[in-house]
Amino acid sequence: MVEVVTTVAEVRERVAKERAAGHAIGFVPTMGALHDGHLTLIRRAREECGYVVVSVFVNPTQFAPGTDCERYPRDLAGDVEKAGKAGADLVFAPSVEEMYPPGDSTFVEVTGQLVECLCGPHRPGHFRGVTTVCARLFNIVLPNKAFFGEKDYQQYLVIRRMARDLRLPLEIVPVPTVREPDGLAMSSRNAYLSPEERKAATVLSRGLFATRDWFASGEGDASALIAVARELIATEPLVKLQYLELRDAETLEELRRVKRRAVLALAAFVGSARLVDNVVMEAAGPVALGGDDNGVIVSAFDTPSSPVS
Ligand code: PAJ
Repeated sequence: MVEVVTTVAEVRERVAKERAAGHAIGFVPTMGALHDGHLTLIRRAREECGYVVVSVFVNPTQFAPGTDCERYPRDLAGDVEKAGKAGADLVFAPSVEEMYPPGDSTFVEVTGQLVECLCGPHRPGHFRGVTTVCARLFNIVLPNKAFFGEKDYQQYLVIRRMARDLRLPLEIVPVPTVREPDGLAMSSRNAYLSPEERKAATVLSRGLFATRDWFASGEGDASALIAVARELIATEPLVKLQYLELRDAETLEELRRVKRRAVLALAAFVGSARLVDNVVMEAAGPVALGGDDNGVIVSAFDTPSSPVS
């Protein structure tokens, strides 16, 4: 039976007991409105750990003023039921005051390349909010493993960097993106889409997959690869790309040619919803050879060049 607690003291007490009983602690941080993407993380934690904690907290420090913090979908009763069915033992649903007591003045911030590209420049302070809340949550739950979705690929890399740099004694486990049958990456923000926008949004994953297929067929040039997705996405007037970039999957450095594992990542507005998605491309076989990399940024806004008819 899943238990719900709202205070740091209650989490510490429950987790200490489980650890003393010899159970590894698995942790899945979320902002709620749970869907099958979140539940896949919880199921994975259930498989790998003896005790599974899920947090449900819409974290105000990762939202810029005037964005969707207030209207972010909330359904704690539904979340508790779903999390319990997926294998959670404990749901931690703190208030803002519990996570950020008045007078607190400590933030945790990763600096450098990982936060200076992709979503970073478009959402100032966002990753600082994410790392701050995750550092606090990790220190409350003290998990052995924390599970993060590759849907938010940059977030996963930033959290992994923080955990390494702060020497946190936990493993950050990436979990592949869970998609709707038509390819759209599951997201709590998909709830903002009208039926028409929902249909249009499928062009994002179709674009990413088209590039991945073109890569698999032997193309290694970054601007040619990006053009495949960009041109497909441009056919959908309801979708406005914010960025579409191909970067090294570990460092997020710019690539001219795909010689190592790479990530093609995008953010786009569909109506009022800002959606992110990505595909990771494994460099193997002939495309891994030749060419140079680390050149200028190759983005959705560079001069188009079409490798496909
Ligand atoms: P949230 O958007 O609720 O996502 C919680 C976790 O679920 C993240 O690790 C996210 O990557 C993962 N997730 C979301 N959609 C997914 C999908 N379709 N497939 C696989 N995993 C998916 O990300 C956050 O909350 C917050 O930034 C948080 C880390 C909780 C800090 O506030």
